[in-house]
Amino acid sequence: MTSLIQTWKALREKGIMGINQRNADYILKYNNRRLYPLVDDKILTKQKAIEAGIHVPELYGIVRTEHDIAQIGTILNNHRDFVIKPAQGSGGDGITVIADRYDEQRFKTVSGRLITLPEIEYQLSNIITGLYSLGGMRDSAIIEYRVKPDPIFKSISFEGVPDIRIIVLMGYPVMAMLRLPTRQSNGKANLHQGAIGVGIDLSTGRTLNGTWLNEKIDRHPDTDNHVSGIILPDWQKFMHLAASCYELVGLGYIGVDLVLDQEKGPLILEINARPGLNIQIANDTGLYQRTSKVEAHLAKQKSAGLKDSIEQRILFSQQNFAIKS
Ligand SMILES: Nc1ncnc2c1ncn2[C@@H]1O[C@H](COP(=O)(O)OP(=O)(O)O)[C@@H](O)[C@H]1O
Ligand SMILES: [Mg+2]
Repeated sequence: MTSLIQTWKALREKGIMGINQRNADYILKYNNRRLYPLVDDKILTKQKAIEAGIHVPELYGIVRTEHDIAQIGTILNNHRDFVIKPAQGSGGDGITVIADRYDEQRFKTVSGRLITLPEIEYQLSNIITGLYSLGGMRDSAIIEYRVKPDPIFKSISFEGVPDIRIIVLMGYPVMAMLRLPTRQSNGKANLHQGAIGVGIDLSTGRTLNGTWLNEKIDRHPDTDNHVSGIILPDWQKFMHLAASCYELVGLGYIGVDLVLDQEKGPLILEINARPGLNIQIANDTGLYQRTSKVEAHLAKQKSAGLKDSIEQRILFSQQNFAIKS
């Protein structure tokens, strides 16, 4: 088994981006701090996306204060399944995915655990007091539509909803990974919850090998099925949604999280202004190798007085970052 250090050493030769480089040369350089609130608050991102006609999971309700908690019964009245999450949470913390009602007073999570209404109220109270928000600031709780994953993921994920993370530099998609929930990750697709990250060929939407808890893997630990070689449906739509987030929020270096809903197709879950670096292990390729190509291209465009359209940006990425199989 290769150690983490060996993995990162091997990647260094492939143009890996380290944390200091990411912070100084990408986040600080391309992300205007004034625009952070827009992506750090999932309610604001959702509103912005809806205005732009971009599809997101439907909002059922917002709980902002202790007083609002009493309304939860009414908000949930017409829904058997739903998701509760902190508006300013990250890394999958504080998210509860309810799959069904069990009886008058109880609900069932995706993993089959029963939750009572008072427990949900307690969870809402934890969220609004800031248990999961950056810096422990007061927060709001979002109650929204539960995404039902497309059946294509059935053989390679364990409960919950896989998501697709795409890193976008100045509107150019540079790297993507599919994140698959495992038994350990409790229905969530965040790597630090124990989900698997699987690289994706940007030109075709075909999955590559993966990483789990910083180890390289080729099969899902719970289902034992191969994670590579799967062609993701609607891939061009995913690329288009991710690339258009540049115009949507104005941030130059972002990680866009998307999901594929059984009925509604590709949806945007959230946008991250400080996307993680593990995507490089999943793709066995360094980010810098790609971001530097985009930057060289942008410099050329600038001196020629040109500006790529969304379609041209996607084409550039797909031509330059295709994986030869
Ligand atoms: N509406 C939803 N329906 C089903 N699963 C969801 C929903 N929202 C989030 N999840 C699960 O939780 C994970 C994290 O959600 P996300 O909105 O990206 O928040 P975070 O900022 O904590 O990463 C997703 O990748 C997905 O697996
Ligand atoms: Mg996320």
